Amino acid sequence: MAEVTAAPTTRKTQTVLGTGSAPGKIIVLGEHAVVYGQPALAAALDRGVRVVVEKDEEGPRLRAPRWGVVAPLSGEEGSAPLSVALERVRAAVAPELTQVALVAEDRLPLGAGLGSSAALTVASARALAAAAGRELTVDRLTEVVHAAEQVFHGNPSGVDQATVVRGGVIQFQRSPGGTPSIRPVNAARPIPVVVALERPHVGTKEAVEGLRRRRDRHPRTLDLLLGELGALCTEGTAAVEKGDLVTLGELMDLAHGILSALGVSSSDLDGLVQFARSQGALGAKLTGAGVGGAMIALTDGDPDRARQLVLAFRARGASAFACELG
Ligand code: MEV
Repeated sequence: MAEVTAAPTTRKTQTVLGTGSAPGKIIVLGEHAVVYGQPALAAALDRGVRVVVEKDEEGPRLRAPRWGVVAPLSGEEGSAPLSVALERVRAAVAPELTQVALVAEDRLPLGAGLGSSAALTVASARALAAAAGRELTVDRLTEVVHAAEQVFHGNPSGVDQATVVRGGVIQFQRSPGGTPSIRPVNAARPIPVVVALERPHVGTKEAVEGLRRRRDRHPRTLDLLLGELGALCTEGTAAVEKGDLVTLGELMDLAHGILSALGVSSSDLDGLVQFARSQGALGAKLTGAGVGGAMIALTDGDPDRARQLVLAFRARGASAFACELG
């Protein structure tokens, strides 16, 4: 059985065969509802994951010094999800490269709902393709990454991969026919947000399954709420296209209320959202799978006020950073 173990603290300089990188993502509106066919508005972050493929006689394996892990890539039954997911990527993109290490560096908090797993698999696929001297089309990359993401997320909607692969701001909607609709959104002005988190989330798979169980018990009410999240996303996309941050903030507040009613918030997240509003944010909501993890607060675009909000979150014990989407 492949295991994830602590990384050694020193290593020799190795031959670099290829590199790849990918951004993290923020879901502005529509998380969870997107699993049920509603639209979601998502944007790539200005930070993500970089992977270097190096020669490594003990490969194939992942080395991620910052996370303190060394993990053999393996499709064997019982292997760690990270090992299985990255082995799927390697086998699909560069099966001939076996004596290699994927060395990952990231500037994204893990397990926060900011797309770290999608960014890792996309960056790995790009680095392996570069190492093998192979072209990867957007469609092929999306297919490979979707197969890897299934290991972490069960039945992901595909919004994370689509955002991380394409970058920018997109509106994403699953379609019953299989091919999702992905529309680039032309933001009239960048969307200024502060991202904050206190604790990692329970996991996307768990959060999605929990909601599915609640929907099975209360389908009428939950379908109404999920439909409302979809409607808020459509209005929010129009607000982004007009550069109307005040309306976008109001829609984010409404969306957080609905996500709480759906049971995917947490007391930490509710506390951070309330705090952001008390500090003058135009709106605030959880982002991603929820049940822990990250929230976003919309600011008015003044960098000083965004910095003050970051410091206020940090003084409260949360980690936080400011960024502009789109
Ligand atoms: C996770 O980033 C977004 C969810 O909607 C799950 C998914 O779309 O697969 C919670």
